[in-house]
Amino acid sequence: MKGIILAGGAGTRLYPVTKVVNKHLLLVYNKPMIYYPLNTLVNAGLKDIIIVSGKENLDSFKKLLTGNGKFSNVNFNFVVQKQAAGIADALRTCKKLTKGEKIVAVLGDNIIEDDITEIISNFEKQNQGARIFLKEVKQPEKFDIAIIKDNKIIDFEEKPVSPKSNLAVTGLYLYDNQIWQIIDDLQPSFRGELEITDVNNYYLKRNQLGYNILKKDWFDLDTFSTLLQANLKMAQK
Ligand code: DAU
Repeated sequence: MKGIILAGGAGTRLYPVTKVVNKHLLLVYNKPMIYYPLNTLVNAGLKDIIIVSGKENLDSFKKLLTGNGKFSNVNFNFVVQKQAAGIADALRTCKKLTKGEKIVAVLGDNIIEDDITEIISNFEKQNQGARIFLKEVKQPEKFDIAIIKDNKIIDFEEKPVSPKSNLAVTGLYLYDNQIWQIIDDLQPSFRGELEITDVNNYYLKRNQLGYNILKKDWFDLDTFSTLLQANLKMAQK
């Protein structure tokens, strides 16, 4: 399987520093942010990893990651997303490089502490479908939320005002190669982006979407406050 880390986007919630530094290069305690999702993939056994980012930042990622002893077993590819047109748009840039293999995609601003090795290995063996990872959160209104009935996801709500569940959809996704056609058929949302929720909904409607609930810590590093919390937690560890 191919691993993908999405490290594009504008990072507007962390302005002004992200006007000049890509968010995923900021420090979280003693490591650049991107090391955390990268370690999640590497620890799960992924050896082929694609990094997606805007044109202006790609050289920094190349410099940071290639020839880096920490990741000497990883074969990296670097791909440009022309503009921040959504998570599904960023994934689309990897189509050719994945050569029909299944993918494990992770958002570059997510810290995931669970070991996902076994889940990935089982997913690799299954015929078709997708799998997402949920996490119980205190502020569900900040996230895309999954509504579960009889142990099955029945619906998603994007940043709901009155959430019907406290299970956030995290930025870790497993997809088979149907994803490329699904993305090609997507229409931009009201905010002009190709939404990953629409991809997940496609699988959900066809009864092909599985899920796991993360047990350990999960951080979505999108604001000064979550960045501070993650820094403190990592320093403690
Ligand atoms: O972290 C979990 C949440 O992430 C999910 O609950 C939401 O369903 C999902 O849409 C996403 O929400 P965010 O508001 O956190 O997305 P954001 O725009 O901040 O982008 C998250 C990451 O994706 C970020 O690390 C950069 C990358 N990205 C984003 C966009 C829009 C790209 O690489 N390219 C893009 O065009």
